Amino acid sequence: MSDDEIAELDVDLEVDVPHGARIWNYLLGGKDNYPADRQVGEAMREQWPDIADSALKSRQFLIRAVRFLAAEAGVRQFLDIGTGLPTMQNTHEVAQAVAPESKIVYVDNDPLVLAHARALLVNQSTEGIVNYIDADYNEPDVIIAGAREVLDFSQPIAVMFMGVLGYLESPDAAHAIVKHVVDSVPSGSWLALWDGTNTSERARAGAKAQADMGSPYYQRTVAEIERWFDGLEIVEPGVVSVTHWRPDDAEVGQVEPIDGYGAVARKP
Ligand SMILES: C[S@@+](CC[C@H](N)C(=O)[O-])C[C@H]1O[C@@H](n2cnc3c(N)ncnc32)[C@H](O)[C@@H]1O
Repeated sequence: MSDDEIAELDVDLEVDVPHGARIWNYLLGGKDNYPADRQVGEAMREQWPDIADSALKSRQFLIRAVRFLAAEAGVRQFLDIGTGLPTMQNTHEVAQAVAPESKIVYVDNDPLVLAHARALLVNQSTEGIVNYIDADYNEPDVIIAGAREVLDFSQPIAVMFMGVLGYLESPDAAHAIVKHVVDSVPSGSWLALWDGTNTSERARAGAKAQADMGSPYYQRTVAEIERWFDGLEIVEPGVVSVTHWRPDDAEVGQVEPIDGYGAVARKP
């Protein structure tokens, strides 16, 4: 989307303030970011030189998880909370490539994501649906109400929190949000979740640099992430560094762990 097209949209992008979606876009090698976002990204990279590689690998987990949910678990409805800016192989592209009738509801609270969502998150098929809710996950009932307009809550729904809950300082608050949304979807639904972990010195230093720039992202312990799956049936290989979650054949034997742990689990 060009600057002119963005200017035509009636959204306040607050370009002087770093935004999580745009820092992430910068780390993923995208162009939808501003100097304030790039400054934070660079400060992080100084402390955590392979952070861009980790960002990319976490994104590949999202792709593998959605493919598993669509192809192996037979899920046809996705609620992707904290979507991020459109990038390669977005959730709807992966799901609808497997099952064109898939319905995807994206949720984010970033104004630039909203601007791009209008233009880019368009259906890949005539049978499916792609929808976007401009909402804050701190108000999960707003998300559920919006999702109900598109998704059938009598059928399984894959709830996704992919690298998004670290904006909350309290792991308990994050846990409560995950639980609230998972409690709202029917039995046979799924949770796909990963988040940044404080599992290496460089990751901790990167997070400190980000916080020092006024844009904190709170890393978790692996145990905190495991707790978010309480009561669910976690599929193999469990809660692992996301590079170790069902790596593609070409990667087997050569994948290094990253400082992001997650899993995919079924609601009984
Ligand atoms: C690190 S990005 C991850 C994007 C994507 N899930 C991925 O895996 O590439 C985090 C996203 O969460 C969104 N986000 C942050 N706080 C949020 C909130 N309170 N409610 C909804 N989305 C939020 C940000 O705008 C950003 O797009």
